[in-house]
Amino acid sequence: MVENYTELGIYEDIVKVIGKTPLVRLKKIERYFSIESELYAKIEFFNPGGSIKDRIGKYMIEGAKKEGKITEGAVIVEPTSGNTGVGLALVAADEGYKTVFTMPDKMSIEKELLLEALGAFVIRTPTAVAPSDPNSYYKVAEAVRNLIWKKKRPVSREELKEIVNYVQRLVDEERLDELRSILEEEVEETPYAYIPNQYFNKYNPIAHYETTAKEIWEQTKGEIDYLFAGIGTGGTITGIGRYLKERKDVKIIGVDPVGSIYNLVKKGMSLEEAVKKAHPYLVEGIGEDLLPETVDLSLVDDIVVVNDQEAFAMTRFLARKEGILVGGSSGAALYGTIKYLKENEVKGKKVVIIFPDTGRNYLTKIFNNKWLLENGFETDDEKVLEGLR
Ligand SMILES: Cc1ncc(COP(=O)(O)O)c(C=O)c1O
Repeated sequence: MVENYTELGIYEDIVKVIGKTPLVRLKKIERYFSIESELYAKIEFFNPGGSIKDRIGKYMIEGAKKEGKITEGAVIVEPTSGNTGVGLALVAADEGYKTVFTMPDKMSIEKELLLEALGAFVIRTPTAVAPSDPNSYYKVAEAVRNLIWKKKRPVSREELKEIVNYVQRLVDEERLDELRSILEEEVEETPYAYIPNQYFNKYNPIAHYETTAKEIWEQTKGEIDYLFAGIGTGGTITGIGRYLKERKDVKIIGVDPVGSIYNLVKKGMSLEEAVKKAHPYLVEGIGEDLLPETVDLSLVDDIVVVNDQEAFAMTRFLARKEGILVGGSSGAALYGTIKYLKENEVKGKKVVIIFPDTGRNYLTKIFNNKWLLENGFETDDEKVLEGLR
């Protein structure tokens, strides 16, 4: 009789495979940029859904189950740029829940197809609208949830498909008044539809506190001086930052795209002013134009700002230099790390960088010269990175 299955790499189901991702040293990058510290990437594409968000998918569904917010036959609805959807969809598939995701149209087609492959329904919404507009991806998710709540019973897959098609039509035809009236109608909460809302869900940072951070602490045997991570919902940096700071004065550095509010708020700008300055950018998964409840900026010592061009050049360079194919937020995190270490003359430290997802999500974008040129980006990565050396 085999006593410990997981030691042999055998798991009872896919959800149990989530986590325990490797830390990989980036020696070629260290050498190329003359970094005199050790860089270790926590490579989250080893999760079954290909991203760090599998961790919170698992925690948010288990949390909702524990708190009675979902019951058998429930539909999980989430506004997501993709990875959280994949995490939720695979856990939901394993546990028998249905899923609907609302997604801004700037997100890659690969992410939409991936969600549908996992049995989810996807509703596309316009990117350039305010979060409070009735056709924003946040509000469209609420509309779907309300329509399910209204039925006061679990919905079949066919019924769900009808609801999804109807809401997509309202969005496409800009029937904002109808969306508004669905959102404003009072409906009783039921356990048949639930929005985990990764931006406000306590299980998001808890997942990172209990798993990602603990793994990093154990993998480095506590010998970690700096942690760099992009900030989207802030769950990653908050959960890891809290865990590490409770044990040691590890410097926690956030990486933020140009156009996001985090770096402005951290510098002391009022939220209102920062939101006015927010503007769109193309790197996916990081940066915000609102302040989620899942982020605690007091745990973040500093924030480095990276633009799309820098993020994309580093992402592409990393794939060729180290054979690590990750997404643009990982390239941004690495660019921000090197920029910060150089500017602050940091030497002899152990640095961990979070690489949130796989580059396979972006083959038609970041890794496609035609797309880069169409969007006004340089395709000569070394040229872009020259300034960092
Ligand atoms: C690709 C990618 N990178 C980074 C992040 C940021 O992680 P967090 O939301 O925990 O701040 C996300 C989150 O959506 C993401 O999808």
